[in-house]
Amino acid sequence: MRSLYCGQLRAEHIEKTVTLYGWVDRRRDHGGVVFLDLRDRTGTVQIVSDPERTPNSYPVAEEVRNEYVVKVVGRVTQRPEESLNDKLPTGQVEVYADELTVLNAVRKQLPFQVSTAEEENVREDLRLKYRYLDLRRDRMAKNMRLRHEIIKSIRRFLEDTENFIEIETPILTRSTPEGARDFILPSRVNEGEWFALPQSPQLFKQILMVAGMDRYYQIARCFRDEDLRADRQPEFTQLDMEMSFMDEEEILALNERLLVHIFKTVKGIDIPTPLPRLTYADALARYGSDKPDTRYGLELVDVSDIVKDSGFKVFSGAVKGGGQVKVLPIPGGNDAISNVRIKPKGDLFKVATDAGARGVAYVRVREGGEIDTIGAIKDNLSAEQTQELLARTGAQPGHLLLFGAGDVGTVNATLDKLRQAIAQELNLIDENKTNLLWVTDFPMFEWNADENRYEALHHPFTAPHPDDVDDLTTARAVAYDIVYNGYEIGGGSLRIYQPDVQAKVFKTIGLSEEEANDKFGFLLEAFEYGTPPHGGIAYGLDRLVMLLAGENSIREAIAFPKTQQARDLLTSAPSSVDERQLKELSVKSTFKPKEKDA
Ligand code: AMO
Repeated sequence: MRSLYCGQLRAEHIEKTVTLYGWVDRRRDHGGVVFLDLRDRTGTVQIVSDPERTPNSYPVAEEVRNEYVVKVVGRVTQRPEESLNDKLPTGQVEVYADELTVLNAVRKQLPFQVSTAEEENVREDLRLKYRYLDLRRDRMAKNMRLRHEIIKSIRRFLEDTENFIEIETPILTRSTPEGARDFILPSRVNEGEWFALPQSPQLFKQILMVAGMDRYYQIARCFRDEDLRADRQPEFTQLDMEMSFMDEEEILALNERLLVHIFKTVKGIDIPTPLPRLTYADALARYGSDKPDTRYGLELVDVSDIVKDSGFKVFSGAVKGGGQVKVLPIPGGNDAISNVRIKPKGDLFKVATDAGARGVAYVRVREGGEIDTIGAIKDNLSAEQTQELLARTGAQPGHLLLFGAGDVGTVNATLDKLRQAIAQELNLIDENKTNLLWVTDFPMFEWNADENRYEALHHPFTAPHPDDVDDLTTARAVAYDIVYNGYEIGGGSLRIYQPDVQAKVFKTIGLSEEEANDKFGFLLEAFEYGTPPHGGIAYGLDRLVMLLAGENSIREAIAFPKTQQARDLLTSAPSSVDERQLKELSVKSTFKPKEKDA
């Protein structure tokens, strides 16, 4: 029987005989004494074997190699003064192995060194292909434990303190309206028909409210066939919640209690509440983003009114064309950021153009207050306009002002990206800060220029702000996102529960009654049988784990993630299927391998 885990051994166990199981992390032979670091998912402990004190185990200790699975029975002893190790939780002790049994050997060359005692940068594709080895390593073992702790704290809080119940909703279902592409699955039994994998449990959780299952939650798997990024996976996990008879304030307060609980239990961090709030309009105005990182300043300033009549066509044209001109003022930027970087071929120029801008205009305020700009601004702004500009942006000697001019979306996107890049570079981000905030009052709809119609910004069941129902096209929604250090970690809304409002929303997004019935008829019908006012939220759990683990990629928060190319390197999925399987499903592939692959 195992006495305890390797990482749990402490000075208090000295003199005890223990039985340990684990993997040989590292083996060192110090001329007649063999040291093994024995590892399990809790950490490592030093095992010692020599011919005199442990004659039984010594021949085996000579033979074992890294990653062998072994059993050790031995005496815990105090390490000699010179080999105490403060950095290791078990660094006070070592175990003299009276018995050492090899339970299994390693039969192939390891694709990489599993031990992280000496840091080795392993390529991510190798880590993913041999994920079982990667998960043995400290970093991933820690991340998996943290993920578990987070989920555990969520369950404890929601179930034990707030009376939530977990209900599972189907994976084989119909399309859900989250706006991404569906993964679809042919039905063998119902020839010619298809299931969709859920993009979220949205429809079911609303139906659960109709069903009286107030205060539902679920750790729910969601599937979205969309382009991958560092914080997106095609298959991911949400903490999904839905509540009846609560208004927006009550929902936000409940979620703040949840967040306080998670951060305190898992990280020991005290989150002051109420959390700060920003309206969507303010977030975009001040940061150019609906998920601003508020750990640093660098706020944007709108100067459209100052430059709208200037002779500088880039500025005046932008404003007259319905767009805007905004400034990112950077204290100390005059010295820190050279012209080469802002001009074509420069890295900041690239940041801006990647975000859709055509270039970046700038103004430098030299020590002594002299102004230096790219020619066109200087020549085309009056002295008065220049003074107003400096006053509005708070420019002081040493400032660099970067300008965005054009349509509102592009200007915001550009300055948001520049703001982030510059904060990184100038070390303005305090990594110890935990900035959580709500972004509220999202617009109901967004104009889709390609399809020439409005589309729901959240989903079409989001309730409009009661003051805005007269003109839905410009209405605010009772929708909220929770933002953590510049990442959207969750979002939700109050839902529509009155059929007339729902009909208006469908009409606004150009969905005919027939189409609405075809897509969501079952939900609309359910709403006819006594629907409570309700609302909810869903958190991106993988993102939350990623951030609490201090990682930059969502893949570090998931045991078996997909690559950026949406592949699972461990099992080599997706893969081709037999012709016979397709036939059974009444499906024919139109795929033609490219010449060179054939
Ligand atoms: P939404 O689409 O905003 O809302 O999703 C909620 C949260 O899920 C996370 N998320 C993702 N995480 C990883 N990979 C992805 N591809 C991915 N897509 C989204 C984000 C996001 O904030 N049904 C609504 C919620 C509601 O209204 O209750 C919904 O799914 O952190």
